[in-house]
Amino acid sequence: MLRVLGIETSCDETAASVVASDSPAHGLILSNIVFSQIEEHAAFGGVVPEIAARAHVEALDGIVQAALDEAGVTLADIDAVAATAGPGLVGGLIVGLMTAKAIAAASGKPLLAVNHLEGHALTARLTDGAAFPYLLLLVSGGHTQIVLVRGVGEYQRWATTIDDALGEAFDKTAKILGLPHPGGPSVERAAASGNPTRFAFPRPMKGSHQPDFSFSGLKTAVRQAATAIAPLTDQDVADICASFQQAIADTLHERVGRTLARFRQEFPDCPTPALIVAGGVAANKRVRTTLDALCAEYGFQFIAPPGVLCTDNAAMIAWAGIERLQAGLESENPMAFAPRSRW
Ligand code: KG4
Ligand code: ZN
Repeated sequence: MLRVLGIETSCDETAASVVASDSPAHGLILSNIVFSQIEEHAAFGGVVPEIAARAHVEALDGIVQAALDEAGVTLADIDAVAATAGPGLVGGLIVGLMTAKAIAAASGKPLLAVNHLEGHALTARLTDGAAFPYLLLLVSGGHTQIVLVRGVGEYQRWATTIDDALGEAFDKTAKILGLPHPGGPSVERAAASGNPTRFAFPRPMKGSHQPDFSFSGLKTAVRQAATAIAPLTDQDVADICASFQQAIADTLHERVGRTLARFRQEFPDCPTPALIVAGGVAANKRVRTTLDALCAEYGFQFIAPPGVLCTDNAAMIAWAGIERLQAGLESENPMAFAPRSRW
């Protein structure tokens, strides 16, 4: 059995976790501590990189200790230290990776520099023991991608956004409407009492032969609608949010459906095709029910890991470390690995 300490600091969550390899394609989370900096950034309507980096410095040592304590282990019981080395905000990456290097050097344990997206991509194996190959839909504040996951270290991006990320579209819509940060949950809450058919927002890329997403036109349409009827009543805001979510649901249905069809074509013998969703937007109920129905339509298994493992966390980084160790895919000279804001 392997036990790995994971560290995640690529955005505005300071996180540490200890995960054990329970079986070759299944993990056991011994601890999973996430400190969200949302309040630190709320006044600015978005994540401020410099504030995030400083907050990671202040919080990380205590969070690593808390993760070890909750798991009931010390550094001596750990087989390796895994840290997010990119992509993300470089200040945060430096804090997490340097801390991991220091722990590795002091304890004599190997270091694994993990790609944040690989963490998201392998989470469904930690939680559900998902078998390769499968499709991952990653929808967060920074990413909107569909990735073919063929194996550990074998990823192929099948679709991406040509402009804004989906979470970004939620956040910008919230900002236009004067709703609090983070925008996704605010928009979802407001949409609950709104009329989804009042505004006919665009369904970007619909019918395109490209597999990609686009969301910036949607945000522009929201701004135009809001300006046209200002000042907005609470009901106007609710109706805009509901109509926005309707446009997102229709868009996901059409765009993701295209890629499910492609998977069917390329892997006709795959006995249990699966779509895994990850990223903060995966917490959205409308998004979940849309994908659930879509998967039923295409004969796919729909796997949505629990919310705390969909959003940024260190358990997924520790697990990616375990998978890399088991596959013999450690990086060559990890102590010399430099953080990569783009990767
Ligand atoms: O994965 P995540 O926690 O952080 C990264 O971006 O890496 O995702 C955060 C994003 C934000 O844009 C936030 O507004 C969005 O996920 N989000 C939601 C919901 N909860 C969080 N979007 C829609 N509905 C939600 N309930
Ligand atoms: Zn993420």
